[in-house]
Amino acid sequence: MAACGGGSSPEDAAPAETQTVLDTAPTDPAPSTTVPPPAPPRPKPLSGLPAFTAGYDGWRKLNRKPIPPRQSADAHSGTKNVYASKKLRPSGSFPNGTILVKEAVRPGRDFIGLIAIMRKERGLDRDHNDWRFVEYTRDSAGARFAETASGSVCWTCHMGAQQTDYVWIYTLGLSR
Ligand code: HEC
Repeated sequence: MAACGGGSSPEDAAPAETQTVLDTAPTDPAPSTTVPPPAPPRPKPLSGLPAFTAGYDGWRKLNRKPIPPRQSADAHSGTKNVYASKKLRPSGSFPNGTILVKEAVRPGRDFIGLIAIMRKERGLDRDHNDWRFVEYTRDSAGARFAETASGSVCWTCHMGAQQTDYVWIYTLGLSR
């Protein structure tokens, strides 16, 4: 048997109703004069960040507009955007495997200086909806990010957003 997408077209001879060819196996017999575009480059994580954050700024943005610095108790001082790798479920919590990335441009700066991450992994921390919290910072545009904080220092404050799966922007009404 030929694999799907083979060169000859048996479907030309077969009556349409007996076709068992999968819809997902398109054959494009038209001669193409255009050069296929090069494969898009694989996104790379920002220097120093975990590989699973690669391309995060192409994920779904959760906030309606950039979140300004808070007057007091801003754990992530700066102008912020929040991106999610998976969609919030109708139940109001994020599925296992979700990664939330918050980027912040520090006040008076013009580059992303802080990345705060929440990553949900089943069984990791049942008391806090299985979220793992880690934050990275850097002091210049070209520098590598370095881990600056993680764990309880994060979730003790995010407990305030417990009713929205520990995700503050929903509790604060900043989401789209
Ligand atoms: C003093 C309270 C506080 C602490 C401590 C804190 N956060 Fe947050 N976090 C917030 C608030 C408030 C927001 C909502 C957006 C904003 O204004 O920055 C937020 C937003 C986030 C978001 C975007 C999703 C969401 O919840 O809205 C991530 C990711 C995040 N924090 C990670 C962390 C990590 C990692 C740490 C620990 C290093 C941490 N946070 C510590 C208050 C806190």
